[in-house]
Amino acid sequence: MKKNALILLKGDDINQLLKDSENEIIEVVKNAYQLHALGDSYMPENSYLRFPGKDKERIIAKAAWIGGGFDSAGLKWIASFPGNITKGIERASATLILNCPDTGHPTAILESSVISAKRTAASAALAAQVMYPPEVLLSVGIVGCGVINFETLRFLLMVYPMIRSVYLLDLSKERAAYFKKRALELNPDLSIYIKEEIQSLLAVAPVIAFGTTAVKPFLDSVEGHLPNAVLLHTSLRDLTAKVILSADNVADDIDQLCSNETSIHIAERECNNRNFIRTTLGDILNGNAAPYDSESNLHIFNPFGLGILDMAVANWIEKKARKEQLGMAIENFVPKAWTSY
Ligand SMILES: NC(=O)c1ccc[n+]([C@@H]2O[C@H](COP(=O)([O-])OP(=O)(O)OC[C@H]3O[C@@H](n4cnc5c(N)ncnc54)[C@H](O)[C@@H]3O)[C@@H](O)[C@H]2O)c1
Repeated sequence: MKKNALILLKGDDINQLLKDSENEIIEVVKNAYQLHALGDSYMPENSYLRFPGKDKERIIAKAAWIGGGFDSAGLKWIASFPGNITKGIERASATLILNCPDTGHPTAILESSVISAKRTAASAALAAQVMYPPEVLLSVGIVGCGVINFETLRFLLMVYPMIRSVYLLDLSKERAAYFKKRALELNPDLSIYIKEEIQSLLAVAPVIAFGTTAVKPFLDSVEGHLPNAVLLHTSLRDLTAKVILSADNVADDIDQLCSNETSIHIAERECNNRNFIRTTLGDILNGNAAPYDSESNLHIFNPFGLGILDMAVANWIEKKARKEQLGMAIENFVPKAWTSY
């Protein structure tokens, strides 16, 4: 493969390159959060493409540059069409373009729904590892049985190999049953229980991952949760302002999080300040903030989902693909300079 050829990586290539790399992905994500907290990154506002008369469908453009050893710039273009599930196809699909930071020329085009799911799951597992005080975790709760939470469970099992019980909740019994079948492939020794209401998860699981497609907060009470419970609020719009304001909140990026009707955004509007967001995961990882507020018994990780994570993971993948000669090389993608004729 010529050094300056553009490389095209399909979903299967990415799956192959990321297989059994959970620890490396967590390291990449951790490094990206740390650089972001130190200001070694840039992300303009995301751009949302919506469609008239449809409130759930959207395509988001996330442009980002991350510095440090990555020095990686590009754009993720990610679509969410929740109705796809009933057609038996994935809700989310995504394409990512990496650009050379020296010339701006594109260097790689990657299918990126897999990258998106893995980096999201890695950040949730990393947050749990940092924010959940006890070292041993035996049970986890899963609210929303889709691909994001499936990957989150995969990463949580890596970080906490002692997990034995998994409690599932989904509006769809079929989705929960399918999730259970797939989760047993991750570890056949797991005891997996499908529950019908959130209270029964709160009472048994100290770490609960939210990966629903709720567009408006539906959970107004987390009464009965275990001590020092950690809610991994990946889907961002499950918890009401009341729940958010009762907890120790950690963000990935405070400005991004206070937008787009996330639960945090709604809570900010309600109390007219952002003081209830204690810190960011990057600051915790850099040792500039405590992992959790010891005065609080409930901790919530609210990740908006940063483009820098996609660029960091994609950069890592591109290097690996070039080394392993994987993917399709496209030579002369950029035409010869006008002045060279
Ligand atoms: N913060 C981030 O970085 C980030 C990144 C990627 C995806 N996400 C979000 O994660 C969420 C999950 O994504 P996915 O691809 O797994 O979706 P998915 O459509 O595959 O699965 C979502 C599941 O949630 C269930 N569900 C919907 N509302 C529910 C409710 N009120 N209670 C219980 N279950 C409910 C659905 O039945 C479905 O099974 C989406 O909201 C997506 O936008 C966040």
